[in-house]
Amino acid sequence: MRNVIILGSQWGDEGKGKVVDLLSERFDIVARYQGGHNAGHTVFIGEKKFVLKLIPSGILRPGKLAVIGNGLVIDPAALLVEIDALESAGVPVARRLFIGNRAHVLFPAHRMMEKMSEGRPGRVSIGTTSRGIGPCYEDKIARRGVRIADLLNTAVFRAQYDSVMQEKVAIAKALGIYDEELDLPRIRDQYEAFAERIRPMVCDTAALLNRAIRDGKAVLFEGAQGTMLDIDHGTYPFVTSSSASAGGACTGTGVPPTRIDGVIGVSKAYITRVGGGPFPTEALDAVGDRIRQRGNEFGAVTGRPRRCGWFDAPLLRYTAEINGFDSMVVTKLDVLDDLDQIPVCVAYRRCGRELTEMPSTVAEIETVEPVYESVPGWQTSTFGIDTYDQLPSKAKDYLAFLESHMGVEVGCISTGPERNQTIVRQGSRLENLIS
Ligand code: GDP
Ligand code: IMO
Ligand code: MG
Repeated sequence: MRNVIILGSQWGDEGKGKVVDLLSERFDIVARYQGGHNAGHTVFIGEKKFVLKLIPSGILRPGKLAVIGNGLVIDPAALLVEIDALESAGVPVARRLFIGNRAHVLFPAHRMMEKMSEGRPGRVSIGTTSRGIGPCYEDKIARRGVRIADLLNTAVFRAQYDSVMQEKVAIAKALGIYDEELDLPRIRDQYEAFAERIRPMVCDTAALLNRAIRDGKAVLFEGAQGTMLDIDHGTYPFVTSSSASAGGACTGTGVPPTRIDGVIGVSKAYITRVGGGPFPTEALDAVGDRIRQRGNEFGAVTGRPRRCGWFDAPLLRYTAEINGFDSMVVTKLDVLDDLDQIPVCVAYRRCGRELTEMPSTVAEIETVEPVYESVPGWQTSTFGIDTYDQLPSKAKDYLAFLESHMGVEVGCISTGPERNQTIVRQGSRLENLIS
């Protein structure tokens, strides 16, 4: 059996949830490895819509196990809301969800600390999801974070909580961002109650995953966000605070690279971004608005309109290299159905020269000139098509064009939000990885 990483190759929201839900049928365990409830992975099953934030999308497949790895930051209140919503929708979670004992705990004070960067004069506003994700990862890296294992030990938890919160209050008061509503003793009691609810699900998930792999089980690793939001390889500082790229699957779960058999990237047939930051192929015109409407490009977590633009092949070549994609899933092909011509960025130019590498600074990325080639649209519905042969020939040509400019095969095509609105290409590396 195989262990495969699936992750976003753009700026998030590529349709990972839908694809993971589909592919999880072929795996035993689905594991999230980074991020927190900043993620919003949408899955439609018939009439039912699920938006998964902390829990892997594989939870929706009966009998599959779901793991929240050590690389995540967990807001227990958000996690319990998610568990309750799933249980009341008829999805059993007990004894199927396992929470890493080394994952970090996110507190309301982390949301308060986020005001330190967001919207403060003199600071670059990232346009975060305001969930406190960055400040929680800051505590982790500064070695003052509270971990799930600490939360479960009342004496340890109380001591850690009081000391960390005292610091935060002092800083927040000094900066004028202190939230008077923050009732620290009440929150501490609440978290102690949360601890009792999650206790049965907490374990050493690295040991669990490695044991399962030794026993021949197949694990699907579900990335959150996307490579261009990765803390090391994305458009820094307009990134999230975790390792969203393929390497994060190993650091975030404790499964070694030698156990990984393949990496699958997910990309839209165009591209979107939520929040601030450079975006070379952004379509700021009426066509961009049309894609937003047709693609329903509004954030699954914050409801913010997503910025829309054209497929960016240099960006894909970069993320393919960082992650070593074996195969790509191209989603939302149907959203482009009515276009007469589809521009695709095939290269970046700057100061009259074609770039061979992704620029490293925001200032440089903001000033690249995308070189576009126009590909004829198919102007007929592809919505719901589930076999490659049924696709209009111009849609096949568009996909072949993307393949040739990315240097990676398109092994799977999504033509609608539901499971069955998908094409897995016969003979592809992707088909081989999931069989
Ligand atoms: P994720 O964060 O990568 O899981 O993606 P999101 O769930 O945030 O956003 C993707 C959106 O596109 C969701 O509303 C999906 O239901 C929807 N979606 C996924 N694939 C397709 C597709 O092929 N066609 C259409 N029309 N919608 C899709
Ligand atoms: P999924 O998993 C798209 C973006 C935010 C912001 C930046 C930093 O659904 O693809 P953060 O709150 O993480 O500190 O915000 O990252 N962002 C996402 N954009 N999809 C996501 O997750 C995102 N998670 C964070 O909009 O620009
Ligand atoms: Mg999303």
